Amino acid sequence: MSVRIAPSLLAADFTRLGEELRAIEAAGADWLHLDIMDGHFVPNISYGPALVKALRPLSAMPFDVHLMIEPADPYLEAFADAGADVISVHVEAGPHIHRSLQAIRKLGKKAGVVLCPATPASSIEYLMDLVDLVLVMTVNPGFGGQSFIQNQLPKISAIRRMIEASGRDIALEVDGGVTASTAPLCLEAGADVLVAGTAVFGAKDYAAAIAALRGGR
Ligand code: DX5
Ligand code: ZN
Repeated sequence: MSVRIAPSLLAADFTRLGEELRAIEAAGADWLHLDIMDGHFVPNISYGPALVKALRPLSAMPFDVHLMIEPADPYLEAFADAGADVISVHVEAGPHIHRSLQAIRKLGKKAGVVLCPATPASSIEYLMDLVDLVLVMTVNPGFGGQSFIQNQLPKISAIRRMIEASGRDIALEVDGGVTASTAPLCLEAGADVLVAGTAVFGAKDYAAAIAALRGGR
């Protein structure tokens, strides 16, 4: 299984975003992870579709947009138009996650579903036919630089089994506290996309940091 590394722009130097984007791409990043926070679903505010649109022409990497907003549906089209390739919505962000995933598909984008640490794997049982990606949060969403919550590992394994049983091509992404020490645990549990903010942008050498997360895979 190939591993994809998705640096989270949240940890980049905001005064030099274009340069940071080019630097991680040159350093071997596979996707760009964009954390969208609304100060309502999560206790922090980040950036919106205008930033995604401004960065889009600078990179060929898939843009992996993680929506931490409630409601999400009114903004899906704006993120699709801005150049998102994958749009992920939290299962906790409203009563109609199924409809949100359908809407993302209808916009011609890959649809992702995200689970907070307290949310069980079973919450997505009836969504497996609609998703292209499942994102397991290994911190409480809202901030970079938090510690990895170890008890999410069995959940990652359970979702890997659900993906195998579905027979569908679904990416399994992990986000939060992913470092060179926690990355192997995620990969062992069955993840194939690793988000990393601090572990990449906090390093002096981005290429070495990305290679360390990949762990030779
Ligand atoms: C948290 C975000 C993460 C965050 C990861 O709400 O979803 O993507 O940027 O940052 P690190 O890798 O520093 O935990
Ligand atoms: Zn994220």
